[in-house]
Amino acid sequence: MIVITTPTGDIGARVLDHVLEAGRDVRLIARNPSSLPDGLSRRVEVVEGSHADPEVIGRALPGAERVFWLPPGNPDSPSAEAAYIEFSLAFCEALGSSSVTHVVGVSALGRGWPKPAGLVTASLQMDDMIADTGVNYCSLACASLMDNILRQAGPIRDDGVFDQPTPGDLKLPHVAKADVAAVAASLLLAPDWRGVAEVSLYGPEDLSFAEMAAIMSAVLDRPVAFREMPMEQFEEMMLAIGASEGMARSYVEMLTAKNEGMDTMAIPRARGETPTTFRQWCEEELRPAIAA
Ligand SMILES: NC(=O)c1ccc[n+]([C@@H]2O[C@H](COP(=O)([O-])OP(=O)(O)OC[C@H]3O[C@@H](n4cnc5c(N)ncnc54)[C@H](OP(=O)(O)O)[C@@H]3O)[C@@H](O)[C@H]2O)c1
Repeated sequence: MIVITTPTGDIGARVLDHVLEAGRDVRLIARNPSSLPDGLSRRVEVVEGSHADPEVIGRALPGAERVFWLPPGNPDSPSAEAAYIEFSLAFCEALGSSSVTHVVGVSALGRGWPKPAGLVTASLQMDDMIADTGVNYCSLACASLMDNILRQAGPIRDDGVFDQPTPGDLKLPHVAKADVAAVAASLLLAPDWRGVAEVSLYGPEDLSFAEMAAIMSAVLDRPVAFREMPMEQFEEMMLAIGASEGMARSYVEMLTAKNEGMDTMAIPRARGETPTTFRQWCEEELRPAIAA
């Protein structure tokens, strides 16, 4: 039995598709089962509730061998620690006495960075907490997700611009959510690995936001420009869209670390297969979103 968290989310839904395609028994943890695809509940078990809730975890783990663990990292959580570490506490407390042997978790690139890095630091602490339970644990250390660009589909469509508090010429890794899900599913479906591991997911090429703007312009066949936003303005924007003060500060800390080289540090790391190029992502995901 494979337990999948966040089956209504972008990554979790794709993990679910891969696992169902392989014909495995699946149990979902979902806050809103009514938003799952029609007919799915005939093929899978569904435990209703949040995977942060000890009572829900208590219903979801019996008989399970493997778990796909994704902390949502909600911006309205009081802090990054609450969003990642406290969110995962009940799960970790239940793991030791459960039948679960393998966990694959979504985390972030940045182990070894010497300064605080907000959401990344909290994600890595969550990894350590899961690993400390003694379960076989593989964390997927994701670079920035290409799909973050979709949050700016409106300004890209209406004004031909997108913003980020990052110098336009700084090359950074970006990975597609589809690749993250494919790697997660392959680890869940072939649990021939043991111990604690981190697989870094970088995407196939480092790109600057100026280069990404040029690729978007070509694929969308309309000009798209990148605008660097001051970090203070970014923090105000996060607060204005409902992030807590703690989470807004953690976003700033994380993006500052990325600007200072956290994602491009020369550290030997196990790399996962992440073939989707930014151009391909724009063709498959951005273009339909802009047309919608
Ligand atoms: N953005 C980046 O660049 C980046 C980089 C590295 C790692 N990450 C990690 O990538 C992950 C993002 O995953 P995603 O893109 O699949 O997310 P997503 O599409 O935003 O989906 C979020 C999922 O979490 C569920 N959820 C939200 N709040 C919940 C709660 N309190 N209790 C239970 N479930 C809840 C949602 O369920 P409902 O349908 O009920 O709302 C939904 O299924 C996060 O772990 C993030 O830290 C992101």
